[in-house]
Amino acid sequence: MSKSYELYQYKGCNFISNIHVIEYLEKMDHFEIRDSDVTAVTYPKSGTVWMQQILSLIYSDGDPAAVQSKPAIERVPWMELPFSNFESRPSPRLSVSHLPYQLIPKDFKKAKGKVIYVARNPKDIFVSLYHFQNYVVVLEAPLSFEDFLEKFMDGRVIYGSWFDHIHDWYIHRDEFNILFVTYEEMKKDLRASIQKMCDFLGKELDDEKLDSVVEQCTFKTMKMNPMANYEKVDNKNPKGAFLRKGIVGDWKNHFTVAQSEMFDRVFQERMKDVPFKFIWDNE
Ligand code: A3P
Repeated sequence: MSKSYELYQYKGCNFISNIHVIEYLEKMDHFEIRDSDVTAVTYPKSGTVWMQQILSLIYSDGDPAAVQSKPAIERVPWMELPFSNFESRPSPRLSVSHLPYQLIPKDFKKAKGKVIYVARNPKDIFVSLYHFQNYVVVLEAPLSFEDFLEKFMDGRVIYGSWFDHIHDWYIHRDEFNILFVTYEEMKKDLRASIQKMCDFLGKELDDEKLDSVVEQCTFKTMKMNPMANYEKVDNKNPKGAFLRKGIVGDWKNHFTVAQSEMFDRVFQERMKDVPFKFIWDNE
């Protein structure tokens, strides 16, 4: 496989050549979705690998062995990647997806299956993505923080605009069997967030099992778990990490006042219809 990864557009979203396949994306629209299907939808860098871990553990009653022998990408694959073999997986099919509203299989829009949408404050997403693109081989390293910020605001990045992603998912929420959670609430109270997901998924876990899920899903435990930490990803910088900092408010260490004010202006304009209350820092 050639190592030239480039972004290309398909139905208003940006994908990576050599990884995303148009024929597969087209086919996905007609996937038959089962009521037992569960997918965690995220814009990149919002907590996707965290959800892979959480879903694996909820569906194995908190058994640590479930996340110790198989890599996360095999346990809970990205639905839109052809090698996920989504259609032929046994039920319950657990998956993650970065797809925007317009590209998710249309059966989900008839309230089949369950969707957990994880939102994260976009300044932290941007910082995480900036570091990620400097880290992984499959994405181009940003020219500079400023240049990359412009691209992010315009949606000229992988999976397109964050603003469109959250806006469209939120506006169309009534079509889905969907739960919205935020990265920041998961950071604040992981146990309560997982309990909320269990309630939504109809999974009853006693206190001991719930404790075990929480323990296996902390940043510290995941970072040490080779089946969860994506350490083997092709990288340009061995000092970087997929599980980088895992905190709320790191944007404050990166943004200038002017950049932050510009971001706030665009945010207020673009998020008029989306009454999400984001937590922007750790205080
Ligand atoms: P940072 O780069 O800010 O550290 P995704 O999985 O969607 O690509 O998101 C990656 C981000 O989620 C990274 O953010 C990563 O550290 C963070 N993350 C992953 N697992 C986490 C956990 N258990 N607790 C907190 N943050 C986590």
